[in-house]
Amino acid sequence: MPIVQADRLAQIGAALLKAAGASEEEASAVATGCINANLAGHDSHGVIAIPTYIDRIKAGHIVPGAPFTIVQESPTTTVIDGNWGFGFRVNARAMALTIEKAKTANVAACTVFRQSHVGRLAAYPLMAARAGMIGIATADSGRSPKHVAPFGGREPRLGTNPISIAVPSDLEAPFYLDMATSAVAAGKIQLAVARGEAIPKGWIIDAEGRHTTDPTQYRKGGALLPLGGSEGYKGSGLAAMVEVLCGLLTGLGFGVEPTGRHNDGCFMAVFNVAAFRPLDQFKKDVADFARYLTSTPPSEGSTGVLCPGEVEYRCEQRRRKEGIAVEDATWDRLRVLARDYKVADELGLA
Ligand SMILES: NC(=O)c1ccc[n+]([C@@H]2O[C@H](COP(=O)([O-])OP(=O)(O)OC[C@H]3O[C@@H](n4cnc5c(N)ncnc54)[C@H](O)[C@@H]3O)[C@@H](O)[C@H]2O)c1
Repeated sequence: MPIVQADRLAQIGAALLKAAGASEEEASAVATGCINANLAGHDSHGVIAIPTYIDRIKAGHIVPGAPFTIVQESPTTTVIDGNWGFGFRVNARAMALTIEKAKTANVAACTVFRQSHVGRLAAYPLMAARAGMIGIATADSGRSPKHVAPFGGREPRLGTNPISIAVPSDLEAPFYLDMATSAVAAGKIQLAVARGEAIPKGWIIDAEGRHTTDPTQYRKGGALLPLGGSEGYKGSGLAAMVEVLCGLLTGLGFGVEPTGRHNDGCFMAVFNVAAFRPLDQFKKDVADFARYLTSTPPSEGSTGVLCPGEVEYRCEQRRRKEGIAVEDATWDRLRVLARDYKVADELGLA
């Protein structure tokens, strides 16, 4: 697997997206978002996704340069139609607007529909945390094909429906939760297939509803399982609530749209900490709380407690220095695209 520095990988991603029709701003937002996912250790949402986004541009499922339309708003709420633009760009604009509203109103929320994949969900609540606010985001995949079987079921009826919450603090590592409500994100199965690796039991079932460690069964009619193992009804319940916020509140609806067009419905909310308590005291308390959590002695077999967001932060520190390992199958796809778009020489991919 080639090891590539983050800047170079972002440059390759952006150049390919631009060659496929994205504007400079869109290409940079998508490539940076993907590489940030790689840096955080979520390779399933990293550069591996760029060829898929390019396929979706070619299919007309993603529309470069799509307008960002506010269809309904109040001082605290906004309903946004992304007109099939790049989710990375549309959702970031939606969050920026929501933060602006919360600066005056203290609490603000938005829904976003008709946008493509938003990638690593934490990117958006982290914008709020950087602005001294608590940010919450949930996302589904609109009415595109489902991946997760509801608890006790055999067929996929839910998306991986992630939830992310970020809070401001004095800690060095950002304090945030970012999790799929399935046992794992679907991209991790794709990554295991690309790497030829087996997956742990409890991640998927095959088409007959049997547990399997073979990731290829997923694309052969299998389904992801909800988060929670034998208590998977909790993951299933969380996913159902995300679907209500992102599918029904946005008006996207539920079930599968026959065209299979990927449509990330999003619900995001922002709370201005200063409206509740002085921000500096809150940030100090979050840091003290994190130290309280992590100071417990480790349980058997554990190296100790980590805060939410800490694994990603540590990974980012390491990968910024050492570079990002890109699986051969993904690297080959990037090289083929570079050749097709005649940018292989300038990107050093010939
Ligand atoms: N856009 C989409 O449609 C979509 C769908 C699903 C998932 N995703 C993204 O996929 C990524 C991966 O999701 P996931 O559920 O596989 O993440 P994960 O299981 O790796 O991590 C989930 C959360 O647990 C925390 N964590 C991990 N290990 C920990 C430990 N040892 N101690 C304490 N906390 C720990 C992480 O900081 C994170 O907040 C996320 O960025 C998510 O937003 C996106």
